[in-house]
Amino acid sequence: MQEKIRVGIIGYGNLGRGAEAAIKQQPDMELVAVFSRRGKVDTLDPNVPSLHVDEAENYRDKIDVMLLCGGSATDLPEQTPHFAQMFNTVDSFDTHAKIPEYFAKVDEVAKKHGKLSIISVGWDPGLFSINRVMSEAVLPDGKTYTFWGKGLSQGHSDAVRRVEGVKNGVQYTIPSEAAMERVRKGENPELSTSDKHKRECYV
Ligand SMILES: NC(=O)c1ccc[n+]([C@@H]2O[C@H](COP(=O)([O-])OP(=O)(O)OC[C@H]3O[C@@H](n4cnc5c(N)ncnc54)[C@H](OP(=O)(O)O)[C@@H]3O)[C@@H](O)[C@H]2O)c1
Repeated sequence: MQEKIRVGIIGYGNLGRGAEAAIKQQPDMELVAVFSRRGKVDTLDPNVPSLHVDEAENYRDKIDVMLLCGGSATDLPEQTPHFAQMFNTVDSFDTHAKIPEYFAKVDEVAKKHGKLSIISVGWDPGLFSINRVMSEAVLPDGKTYTFWGKGLSQGHSDAVRRVEGVKNGVQYTIPSEAAMERVRKGENPELSTSDKHKRECYV
């Protein structure tokens, strides 16, 4: 095997742990270290070095790609423009309405520092976005709707936990049966985000 891609992880929540497990399955990647604002964390593999996030900049020459696994609500808007100055980055920013402004900010920093940043990687945005592009290409007169759930939303759960005073919280996304029925009937209705889903928060 030729040289491996040296990967780092910043932010060790659900995504950080998932990224660690996924890297383990890639024969051409090695996980160099995990960085967290909480300092040392219990990594799935205890042999993976775990360091405070302030140590990350000392790894500029030791890490090829930094996976930014912080939350979209408040972490990534600060962390990505900061770390895109020193690393090639991949993140899963999923506040859909704010992706254009996020893209502009990250693009500016990455270009200025000669780095590559891939934003909004995941299932949605991510794999679902690719599905939408393909469907719209073959059905140009169609109308695109996305219904999520029933299921737990990681992004919205993260946002709930960022509300001051909240100790723990989760958000379940429940698609509106009535809205789905109208779409299935081919009515092509205009639906706002809140028309399409109910968002149940447990705090
Ligand atoms: N594009 C997509 O399809 C997609 C899909 C799923 C999620 N996402 C995005 O991914 C983001 C992260 O999701 P997640 O489920 O990994 O969120 P999470 O578990 O809440 O983790 C977010 C951050 O919170 C901190 N954290 C985690 N556990 C903690 C604890 N016990 N105490 C204090 N801080 C803790 C970690 O940062 P530190 O280690 O620095 O403390 C972590 O990076 C979401 O905000 C969402 O926007 C995108």
